Amino acid sequence: MEIGWNLGKIVRVIDISAIRNDFPLLSRSFDGVPLIYLDNAATTQKPHAVLNASRHYYETINSNIHRGTHRLAREATDAYEAAREIVASYIGAPDSRSVIFTSGATDSLNLAAQTLSSLLSEGDEVLISALEHHSNIVPWQWACERTGAVLRIIPCDESGMLPSSLSPHLTEKTKIIALTWISNAFGTVNPVSRYTAEAKHHGVTVVIDASQAAPHLSINVAEMGCDMIAFSGHKMYAPTGIGILWGKYELLAALPPYRGGGEMIKEVTFEETTFNEPPFRFEAGTPNIEGAIALGAACDYLCSIGLDRIKAHETSLIRAAEAELAKIAGIRLFGPADRCGALSFAIEGVHAYDLGTFLDQMGVAVRTGHHCCQPLMHRFGITGTTRASFAMYNTHDEVVRFGECMRRAVNLLR
Ligand code: ALA
Repeated sequence: MEIGWNLGKIVRVIDISAIRNDFPLLSRSFDGVPLIYLDNAATTQKPHAVLNASRHYYETINSNIHRGTHRLAREATDAYEAAREIVASYIGAPDSRSVIFTSGATDSLNLAAQTLSSLLSEGDEVLISALEHHSNIVPWQWACERTGAVLRIIPCDESGMLPSSLSPHLTEKTKIIALTWISNAFGTVNPVSRYTAEAKHHGVTVVIDASQAAPHLSINVAEMGCDMIAFSGHKMYAPTGIGILWGKYELLAALPPYRGGGEMIKEVTFEETTFNEPPFRFEAGTPNIEGAIALGAACDYLCSIGLDRIKAHETSLIRAAEAELAKIAGIRLFGPADRCGALSFAIEGVHAYDLGTFLDQMGVAVRTGHHCCQPLMHRFGITGTTRASFAMYNTHDEVVRFGECMRRAVNLLR
């Protein structure tokens, strides 16, 4: 049992050995050195519950959905639609028809930008922030190019935080705001509920990239009040190739389709096509059926552990990792003190890539580089950072070993 420090009091947070036993990959070692996996913001490992859901699907009900009259097709359809209900419940969505399965957050954000561009006219403004991942920049650049709208950027300060209020950045022309909840590069947690309330007061459509939030924080879209939210399954213990875009049903129902193909249509003639209702309007082609079912299993798994416990445990790991890194001279941490999930840093005289390579030789997997946030790196005058990112299965022992490996690597590299 790991004990964590949360909001000033000791709390019993998590049964870490039971959790680690759920993740077969964590028992890997390289040349006798046990793996310490600290690249969870890139992708998480998968528990038996998720692996079994994928396997069970292929071994027992593999079939195409929605169209077949045979029993397998019905069972696969039921499992796929049940997964939609589970995901809706996981994010507090009152209507599961508002959950669109996509191939991941990138696909979701492209879907959002492309369909919402139907609301944009020349001179309108789309707001994003300095913290965005490329997947929440490029689709909006394209939407602006297509429509003549203008992309505006909310700046961040030296600690990697956005302003406390968005109001100074909202104009009569602002139509859409698309913001990350948690920065994948720095771990900054944005006050998305407060921002959403401000934006809605001005009648602005709000899209939240929750890719880094989904594995750490509980999500309640009804309480948050945003219009759309996107995340990937693979960063929250589900497989790659599955994600969701949730949108308010009335908004989705007013938007044009994204891709053309099977399932998204109501009727097709060579002259004209009419379109299905959401979510099917946005799910052209055979979807990732197994991925959706496994995402449902991942949501159930996260709920069985408890998001509050997970967050408390991960926060205690980050505090411990900060203390380890503080022993290294010339280290610079990026992001605010109350970071979530990721701990990004640079060390004077040590290139991030070299550091990552040395750590890898000691069994420690971290990520180095720009983390798909080149504009943010430019803002700080750097080409990249080293990022350690944490998941529910990381331990305090691993953090201590990470600190030791860091000090050895830095001594060798300086
Ligand atoms: N977006 C992923 C990351 O931050 C790949 O590492």
